[in-house]
Amino acid sequence: MAVSYKDLGLVNTTDMFKKAITGGYAVPAYNFNNMEQLQAIISACVECKSPVILQISKGARQYANQTLLRYMAPGAVAMAREMGSNIPIALNLDHGDSFELAKSCVDYGFSTVMIDGSSLPYEENVALTKKVVEYAHERDVTVEGELGVLAGIEEHVSSEVTHYTKPEDVQDFVTKTGVDHLAISIGTSHGVYKFKLKPGESVPPLRFDILEECEKRLPGFPIVLHGASSVLQKYVDIINRYGGKMKNTSGVPEDQIKKAVKSNVCKVNIDSDGRLVMTAIIRKCFVEHPEEFDPRKYLGPAREELKKMYIAKCELLGSNGKA
Ligand code: G3H
Ligand code: 13P
Ligand code: ZN
Repeated sequence: MAVSYKDLGLVNTTDMFKKAITGGYAVPAYNFNNMEQLQAIISACVECKSPVILQISKGARQYANQTLLRYMAPGAVAMAREMGSNIPIALNLDHGDSFELAKSCVDYGFSTVMIDGSSLPYEENVALTKKVVEYAHERDVTVEGELGVLAGIEEHVSSEVTHYTKPEDVQDFVTKTGVDHLAISIGTSHGVYKFKLKPGESVPPLRFDILEECEKRLPGFPIVLHGASSVLQKYVDIINRYGGKMKNTSGVPEDQIKKAVKSNVCKVNIDSDGRLVMTAIIRKCFVEHPEEFDPRKYLGPAREELKKMYIAKCELLGSNGKA
């Protein structure tokens, strides 16, 4: 039976983003797949008084089990309330790829959903996004669409330039679909290998010119930045020191994120940095305490470090103290 997010103590993104745009900050959207990540996100955002968007990808939903997640989300809200906090918490489907998936998430109590039709021809993206918006809005669930494919280093991406968002499309897309917020492509990509750099080269700046053009065409409209992990070197170093092999990683420099959140970018997606923290601490624990076999002895420290990292992210985005 369908459940409304309102009965689970969740909120949609409308108010969060209104405040973020006027306040010149962005709300963090943190992905999670398991209990420890969820605990770290909630305790971090409670401690630094930040609104938060919990994010679940299609893969995460399959991994964690959709029914279990349905109960974890209100559990997370209850945990925050028991800690004496009233921070707004939204639950988002990240990169939904079909109407059926988006509908299912709405019915399971998600308060906001992303429908990512960015790899489809424009008119198909419009039609799919519109269909999701119609279903979601009837239930007061907000919707994120995407225009432009994130520039990536995947083999199938033949030309980075053609995948940047075309500012001339954004107004038409928003008008035709009715989306509440829009993900655009300005030079970030997913994962920990964001830029193919030759020795001595530094990370190219994000395309703030495209962001500005989009904002001109959509004044005051919430923009979403995906692929926003900085790929924190500290954790890559720990991973490599304790037996990992991660070479030529690169992420979005923190000063670029800081600049982006001053604009209408009011949702910033971060997944990879959390993955790096967990992997780094677990690797370190395994090497330093090879006698241990209790998962709490390595998942616990990983959770603690994750919490610190999420607090630092909230400070970077300026969302701390805004709840
Ligand atoms: O945008 C991608 C997110 O990092 C989720 O990744 O599909 O491996 O869960 P995933
Ligand atoms: P990162 O891989 O940079 O963390 O991006 C996550 C993301 O965009 C999730 O939608
Ligand atoms: Zn993404």
